[in-house]
Amino acid sequence: MYVPSSVCLPYTLCMRILGIETSCDETAAAIVENGTHVKSCVISSQRQKFSDRGGVIPEDAAREQVLCMLPVLRTCLEESGDTPQSIDAIAVTKGPGLLGSLLVGTTTARTLAALWKKPLIGVHHTLGHLSSVWLCDTAQPANSNQQPAFPILTLSASGGHSDLWCRSSHTKGTLLGSTRDDAAGEAFDKGAKLLGLPYPGGPSIAKAAEGGDPHAHAFPLPLRNDPSLDFSFSGLKTSLRYLLSDLQFCTPNALSSIEDIAASYQQAICAHLIDRIVRALHQHYDIREVHLVGGVSANTVLRATLQAALGKSFPNVALRYPTKLIYCTDNAAMIAAAGEFLVQEHDEKAFEAFETTASLPLAMAIA
Ligand code: KG4
Ligand code: ZN
Repeated sequence: MYVPSSVCLPYTLCMRILGIETSCDETAAAIVENGTHVKSCVISSQRQKFSDRGGVIPEDAAREQVLCMLPVLRTCLEESGDTPQSIDAIAVTKGPGLLGSLLVGTTTARTLAALWKKPLIGVHHTLGHLSSVWLCDTAQPANSNQQPAFPILTLSASGGHSDLWCRSSHTKGTLLGSTRDDAAGEAFDKGAKLLGLPYPGGPSIAKAAEGGDPHAHAFPLPLRNDPSLDFSFSGLKTSLRYLLSDLQFCTPNALSSIEDIAASYQQAICAHLIDRIVRALHQHYDIREVHLVGGVSANTVLRATLQAALGKSFPNVALRYPTKLIYCTDNAAMIAAAGEFLVQEHDEKAFEAFETTASLPLAMAIA
């Protein structure tokens, strides 16, 4: 257990946690109170830089993390008006992600924890996303017109993962299914590349799809006859490649059809995600709440189509997703929130020593 000797653990009170997230190409720091109230949330993104290069280059991302970490931390503390004395603990992403980038965050967090004599909480990146739904800018928790109605079915869909969880509490539950190949965000990113659209692919495809006909091109529904709750997106990407070669698609000359292709491809990804959610709800009758989290949860077509599907077949099941787009994609507020929930539910165990790891099994995200 990593607890500096002179530290007392303040976990019985509402905590104010400094969160740090550096798992990929964003350098992020946030101060969150009580696991929900975001006092500051600062993100320095390298997206534009990597957008020009078609994807993230790990060594460059790590180098940029080193340059951005301290300015981001300084701005974060200035915006919340906090000092080292007013912070109760530090939470940091321990993995999975790009090792060089992760090490910048964890080394900074370990150093600050030792200097400021604060307890340190290592957080699985996915648990951060799972905790993002309650984040808000006021002391009143987001989505808090009622207490969290566990068990909650959560789809966590990002560039690196697509998983379906049945959670019995903030940090406990079961992994019902995960992707067998590409993640949903990866399907957007790779699809965008094929279409000649910029990285990250989710927002570019969503934008290109505006005004397009989602039924213009038929894509298969992946794992249609597979009884599991797993995902598979590589077939959709291959179908898109075949479609483009069938159409002898050439981006600069075929602008009129990009809208329809993007809309149909986006619809196919959303249909697969929603098919798995609906199957899960048929198998788990006690679920009264569905959460969408991760970068792909920013997709408005996914939100609207899922809301319609729930309204039709499961009218008593509420749908929730993060209240702001910045809480869908990678941010440090979700890591601070997860840190708070780990302390609330696991006491001192939350402060155990941890390693910084590029590959951290999904099963280790929650207890
Ligand atoms: O959670 P996130 O910021 O980073 C990871 O943990 O991977 O998710 C990034 C992913 C990217 O693949 C991006 O294309 C996707 O989320 N994404 C979206 C949208 N915004 C971001 N996918 C679909 N629609 C969006 N609006
Ligand atoms: Zn993420």
